[in-house]
Amino acid sequence: MKNENQKNTLVSLFRKTKIISIRLYRHKGKISVSKKENLNTAGLNIKNESYGFELKDGTLGPSVIDISSLYGETGQFTYDPGFTSTASCESKITYIDGEKGILLYRGYPIDELAEESNFVETAYLLLSGELPTKEEYQEFELAITHHTMVHEQLIKFYNGFRSDAHPMAIMCGVVGALSAFYHDSTDVNDPHQRMIAGRRLIAKMPTIAAMAFKFSLGQPFVYPNNELDYTANFLNMCFAVPAAKNQISPTIARALDKIFILHADHEQNASTSTVRLASSSGANPFAAIAAGIACLWGPAHGGANEAALNMLMEIGSVDKIPEFIKKAKDKNDPFRLMGFGHRVYKNYDPRAKVMQATCHEVLKELGIVDDPLLQVALELEKIALNDDYFVEKKLYPNIDFYSGITLKAMGFPTTMFTALFALARTVGWVAQWNEMIEDPSQRIGRPRQLYTGYDRRKYSKLDVR
Ligand code: SDX
Repeated sequence: MKNENQKNTLVSLFRKTKIISIRLYRHKGKISVSKKENLNTAGLNIKNESYGFELKDGTLGPSVIDISSLYGETGQFTYDPGFTSTASCESKITYIDGEKGILLYRGYPIDELAEESNFVETAYLLLSGELPTKEEYQEFELAITHHTMVHEQLIKFYNGFRSDAHPMAIMCGVVGALSAFYHDSTDVNDPHQRMIAGRRLIAKMPTIAAMAFKFSLGQPFVYPNNELDYTANFLNMCFAVPAAKNQISPTIARALDKIFILHADHEQNASTSTVRLASSSGANPFAAIAAGIACLWGPAHGGANEAALNMLMEIGSVDKIPEFIKKAKDKNDPFRLMGFGHRVYKNYDPRAKVMQATCHEVLKELGIVDDPLLQVALELEKIALNDDYFVEKKLYPNIDFYSGITLKAMGFPTTMFTALFALARTVGWVAQWNEMIEDPSQRIGRPRQLYTGYDRRKYSKLDVR
């Protein structure tokens, strides 16, 4: 095997049915590869020393090589920027099969939950692992409903922002500030306090997001109304005004509830991993969720729904699509087709299918026919799915491709799209946070590195430099 700059190349660990490769860096010597017949051990041979690492099987999906003892045994690190081949934890919450386009929440397929369940019930499922009985559902829904108000002092935070502040900037600040109000639910080692903190976050996120929206409009805040269900209450806090009676369309409320279900969790995505890493130091849940909101804001992640709609508006008409497809394929152009591609899905994102159907329902309910943005989106999808570049790279529409058109039709500005994503994903973040705290194998997250900087050198005084 070719050695280069004291880097050796891939060390492939074989398993009868799977090949798992780790790229290792050493200063000298040669790493050969051993193929192990034993199905439960991955063999590694370094400088004629053989090491064995346990292979662990999950219920579904790829097995893992437990390399937690690798550094202690071999003095080597693994190297996997972006964690494309790295499992950070064991989890029972969500399963994604990227090749088959499958998404399960605690074993239930996302399309069935979107069709049959509601967001509060799905939240219960993600948090507890089981669908609730009628009594369990009523207790949980009542608890969430009675935690929707925020402390009156928190309202003053909004007046500290500029009127054109991005709602995600407000969400980062206000959610982090919850730590200053709820000292009775910040002890992460107390399961009861974790339950209270989780319910507070899930209940208050719609109120905080709606207040960010109202603040951007210069309209008065609308208090939660306990007579309304979770999503209808959110719509009311967003669109009611003191001067008129607010009518909430059940179709729109149901569609938004479905959208929340689709966004609730998605295994170890960037923002969930951020929440887990922040929480691994023992940080309180409000601070950890605020870190997740900050990560979600990025256009490569939860900010893609806002970026995708802005892209569709920039394209503007079907005849301009080829120009943008060309840009997306140009290696020298940083432009990407927003709402396309996914780290895990190398097939159609199952959420995008439900999202597209919901989009049509909402446009029909609102009497919006031939929405120009939808025409551009449908044509763009058709062209991209038949273009070799996208086919070879397995780039399909993801959840963010159709969500923007739907949310815009509902009356939300693009700047609110990611705030809605954060509202829904709070359920997944809380569920994953609890699972991490309860996992005895979890420790403070502290990755290592491949150091390629200077070797030790002597300080030189300013007058001789
Ligand atoms: C979400 O992780 C999750 O689960 C996230 C999420 C969740 O629910 O939490 O599903 C939500 O974040 C969905 C993704 C939203 N982001 C976007 O729509 C932004 C556009 N998509 C890309 O930025 C990209 O596809 C990512 C970030 C989503 C995935 O990036 P990867 O896995 O690191 O893939 P990559 O960037 O290495 O791309 C692989 C190749 C590259 O070409 P080569 O260097 O191999 O030649 O595909 C190309 C990329 O240039 N490519 C694209 C593209 N996405 C990838 N080219 C054009 N347009 C795109 N959208």
